[in-house]
Amino acid sequence: MCGIVGYSGPGNSVGPIIEGLSRLEYRGYDSAGICLKINNELQIIKKEGKLDNLKELLNVQTPFSHTGIGHTRWATHGAVSTDNAHPHGNEMFAVVHNGIIENAGPLKKELQAEGYQFKSQTDSEVFLVLLTKFYKQSGKTLESIAKAFNTITGNSAFVIIEKSSDRLYCLKRSAPLVVGENPETREAYVSSDPFALVGYAPIIYFPQDGVICESVVSPTDVKINFYELDLTPSSRYKNQANLMTVDATTKGPYEHFMLKEIHEQSALIDKLSAYYIKNDGRKILESLKGFKPKGWHLTACGTAWHAGLVIKNYFESINRQSASIDIASEFRYKNPILNQGEVGLFISQSGETADTLACQELCKEKGIPSYSIVNVEGSTLFRNADKNFLIHAGVEIGVASTKAFTLQALTGYLMSRAMEGTLDDPKLFSEIQLLSHRVGELCASADSLKEVAEKIYTKKGFIFTGRGRYFPIALEGALKLKEIAYVHAEGYAAGELKHGPIALIDENIVNIAVVGPELLEKTLSNVEEVKARRGIMVVVGPKNHPEIEHLADAYIPLNFDGLNNLSPLYVNVALQFLAYHIAKLKGTDIDKPRNLAKSVTVE
Ligand code: AGP
Repeated sequence: MCGIVGYSGPGNSVGPIIEGLSRLEYRGYDSAGICLKINNELQIIKKEGKLDNLKELLNVQTPFSHTGIGHTRWATHGAVSTDNAHPHGNEMFAVVHNGIIENAGPLKKELQAEGYQFKSQTDSEVFLVLLTKFYKQSGKTLESIAKAFNTITGNSAFVIIEKSSDRLYCLKRSAPLVVGENPETREAYVSSDPFALVGYAPIIYFPQDGVICESVVSPTDVKINFYELDLTPSSRYKNQANLMTVDATTKGPYEHFMLKEIHEQSALIDKLSAYYIKNDGRKILESLKGFKPKGWHLTACGTAWHAGLVIKNYFESINRQSASIDIASEFRYKNPILNQGEVGLFISQSGETADTLACQELCKEKGIPSYSIVNVEGSTLFRNADKNFLIHAGVEIGVASTKAFTLQALTGYLMSRAMEGTLDDPKLFSEIQLLSHRVGELCASADSLKEVAEKIYTKKGFIFTGRGRYFPIALEGALKLKEIAYVHAEGYAAGELKHGPIALIDENIVNIAVVGPELLEKTLSNVEEVKARRGIMVVVGPKNHPEIEHLADAYIPLNFDGLNNLSPLYVNVALQFLAYHIAKLKGTDIDKPRNLAKSVTVE
């Protein structure tokens, strides 16, 4: 999904736009571009590839402009190329777009039949051409923007600048978009994420779908006007202070944001348990006390789905409540059975994942309450939910999600204990403190995992296995390795191997077995089966088990004592490090892995 940034003000727009894009590059890095209004002309500078390529061009040209828009792309329609990079522009307007125009195909044919030319293969350029067509008819920018927006379908956010003024225009439909304001410096900003405006815009506006935002900067003032699509004034927006700190935007002493985020987990676990058990979060957790819905429908995507599998286990084993978990892109089209008295629980780091949002919408249409476990306050999922359980992970920049998984699962555990009415059980707080301590220990001794990675990183394929509460961890471990090391990795329930996947096993395949103290014997016999077929055995299991040490080619001994329900979260951190070190040895781009983007805002 793309990152978009806009600026209008007395300063040079290049600085904040490029800084904003570099913070949003985790959203997509196929190409980048900027359009600047210079000497009353709209000048577009864009380049295929990472943002650095665009920066090189700008360093040569060193342009200055008071008004500009920028974009970093994750290609959906049209190949990765400089022509298909955004912004798209002509002599009157320039546009950047995040999302998909679903009816672009037929619209493009109609416009071409009317003689309009297209320079790119993108769906986005259709909005520019529509806007231009309507402007030629009315000569009115706001009216033309509204008309073009009403003509297109699909989840989209647009930012527009024009030759005839220094105004910034933007609007959206089910896509992330915020407007920023700095009254002191008389500057206006637009972006896909408040994170890009940290340190620039102290005030952030969250317009709702179909609200046109117009930023007007004058020598004495900066004003943001909001209009409905019928151009009447609109009040459908929220605003809040931008509380994020700039250090969230840096790697600190770490080589990668992913490594920084893995190391942040111990402190964040403590912070989250204090928030929910002792401080402001207690109130919303208490609202779950004795809560017994007829059933839970958990939906999510990717890593958030794996966290959902862990949470389902908590709701079933601790609360004896029925909980189903679905992959969001399946749930939204399977015509799910939804009964009154059931609840929808939507899990998402970004709160902007299109498939998960569609499931939330579906449940709301059916009158099913929507609860969320989410990281981004103010995101679409957050704003549309009836109850939100924030995970307070801070900004997660590494595309491969790490800390969000741990805190999503931990939040689910706290919800489960709240429903059980045992939040005041002193063992709960100490259990979570123990998790934080063990994760801290693991981070301090992570080099031992590097040695294991060195033994296996050249192998052809990886099969992660786990039983019971460790099955979701096997899935998550495999996903992390796929995402950042580009190797074939699969997660399986350990007992499933002999029903087929074991056919893959030979001396080139590594089986990473997650072995918990529970079902130890059972899981060890699976390890034996793999060893019998000369598979490479890496066991992540309880320490002081010589029989494992004997069996395994590499053994990652962990201290499970006292962790009980939280041991899956602990083990997962070891797999995060393993994936990180294998990717490092393979030399891949760990923070911006190929073909991926941090939040998937299209179907
Ligand atoms: C995980 O590392 C990936 N980035 C991806 O699977 C992610 O978990 C998924 O896209 C869901 O994102 P969300 O949590 O922001 O909804």
